[in-house]
Amino acid sequence: MASGTSGAEPKVETFGKTKAGETVEIYTIGNESGFAARIMTRGATLVNLYVPDRDGKLADVLLGFDNVSGYESEGNQYFGCTTGRVCNRIARGKFSLDGKDYTLAINNDANHLHGGVERSLDKVVWKAKAFSSDKGQSVRLTYTSPDGEEGYPGNLEITVAFFIPADRNTLNISYKATTDARTPVNLTNHAYFNLSGEGSETVLNHRLRLNADHYTPTDDTLIPTGEIAPVEGTDLDFRTLHRIGARIKSVGETAAIGYDHNFVLNERAEDAEMTLAAVLVDPASGRRMRVMTTEPGIQFYSGNFLMGQEGKGLKTYAHRSALCLETQHYPDSVNHPDFPSTILNPGDVYESKTSYNFGVVESQDNDK
Ligand code: GLA
Repeated sequence: MASGTSGAEPKVETFGKTKAGETVEIYTIGNESGFAARIMTRGATLVNLYVPDRDGKLADVLLGFDNVSGYESEGNQYFGCTTGRVCNRIARGKFSLDGKDYTLAINNDANHLHGGVERSLDKVVWKAKAFSSDKGQSVRLTYTSPDGEEGYPGNLEITVAFFIPADRNTLNISYKATTDARTPVNLTNHAYFNLSGEGSETVLNHRLRLNADHYTPTDDTLIPTGEIAPVEGTDLDFRTLHRIGARIKSVGETAAIGYDHNFVLNERAEDAEMTLAAVLVDPASGRRMRVMTTEPGIQFYSGNFLMGQEGKGLKTYAHRSALCLETQHYPDSVNHPDFPSTILNPGDVYESKTSYNFGVVESQDNDK
């Protein structure tokens, strides 16, 4: 697939049709260096992200599919989608709000995962519009989730905007939502990254740093116990760059079957809009990604359920051949009054921002 936009207007093409017959469009935004993203309207999904390596060579660093039917297949494990209304898990699919009990779909052990089954945000077709100025290019996607969709209260109006500035290899994602009834909201993007390029073997040799002194321990179904525990002395201590594969064997023997944990991000400086959440370095290509966010947490998931499915260009997506860094409020927050709240009130605006900035390193241990 061609990449880069050479400063041209954002491009819109037809990507295909859903099984239900809806047309899906795909937008390309980028800057003159060839850094570019493609976003489709099904699931407000990030399909491709072309990033230069240390020699300036572009590769697509995201797992995904070449067509809509790929995204509708069993092989799609939330690749690149906007995830919600509430990403991650809600224990037993139940919560109470203002004295009313709500029951959601159970789709992950005994729990609710990533907003439901049929009409979660990753599966619906969004409306989109592209914008361009001398500052950069963006595509803004909107969707109104009706009251009761997937069991959640309130008509929720959601906007997700993807922006690439003209002068930096950065992808910004900003989320906004409003509601007419109190409702939980927790949105993220579920991109699967392999900085050597999608279809490369594993990410076990990538180096990761997480700006987190604490994490949220869970039960065996990955529901937080409520405790906020230090990472110090555990295999979850990524406070300095660590090879992902170095300690994954013992984590693989736990209920999480690898890294699948919510990290509590260290507090940001008072005058900073976003926190540095993660730094990911691929020594082979030299690509380095920095994730900044307004969110209090990040789920580091090491692709433990990838199963060799066929992805773009008939490539095989092997076990642990990509990882996700899902910026978010903590899992099951709606059942944990002590966690930062995910409840959106009518009249308020849900706002969240995450930015992925790319650069290169010459040597594997340099995360500067
Ligand atoms: C999240 C979850 C994982 C898994 C993936 C999707 O990261 O935490 O357990 O469900 O999504 O496969």
